[in-house]
Amino acid sequence: MHDIESYLESAQRPVDPILLELEQQGHRDEIPIVSRSTGRLLSVLVACMQANRILEIGTAYGYSTLWMALALPPAGKIWTIDPDNDRTAVATQYFERAGVRDQIDLMNQPALEILPLFPQRNLDIIFIDADKAEYEEILELSLPLLKLSGLVVVDNLLWGGRVAQKPHKDDDETVKAIRKFNKTFLNHPSLDATLLPLGDGTGIGSRIR
Ligand SMILES: C[S@@+](CC[C@H](N)C(=O)[O-])C[C@H]1O[C@@H](n2cnc3c(N)ncnc32)[C@H](O)[C@@H]1O
Repeated sequence: MHDIESYLESAQRPVDPILLELEQQGHRDEIPIVSRSTGRLLSVLVACMQANRILEIGTAYGYSTLWMALALPPAGKIWTIDPDNDRTAVATQYFERAGVRDQIDLMNQPALEILPLFPQRNLDIIFIDADKAEYEEILELSLPLLKLSGLVVVDNLLWGGRVAQKPHKDDDETVKAIRKFNKTFLNHPSLDATLLPLGDGTGIGSRIR
């Protein structure tokens, strides 16, 4: 492990045992989950905003969901979307064991089917971590659901560093889609947004209009 990473890991509070178990199962089963540092950031954001209305797109085993759920105020709620029933069945077991099942509403449908009809408004945080080719559409459909000053957080915006490399004709479709998304996200008229080199590249934007 790099010096900085190992220093940060040893300096920070130990990870909750259930998060650690879920993280290990995710890695063992080769499920793409957010980095631990991204999980910690999500937890801090939820805590500092006292966020109690959160929408997540891309649940998988519920690792990022659980980081946020454990920081939720008592009346807080997370709506999380993922069409993969097998993955979310694992997530549900962890939510139950962590005592947060009642605060999480899991929807097993593709995000682009749910978002146009999603009835909630005034969300505090929207966390996007699903199919990269759909990021732009997801952003446009979900922004109107976010309260003014609410945050949209997006994972994988550096895609292992490949997004930051010089564009090449052989770049794969995901790299191209993320580059295009980053342009939209970072210059979006409704957002004050930045991109942090944290985890796999974390976008954070606050809704300003
Ligand atoms: C990177 S994983 C999510 C990881 C999770 N956020 C975590 O850190 O624990 C991406 C997930 O997006 C889901 N996904 C794929 N297409 C989707 C869609 N159209 N709508 C919502 N989720 C989708 C996949 O099934 C996959 O489980």
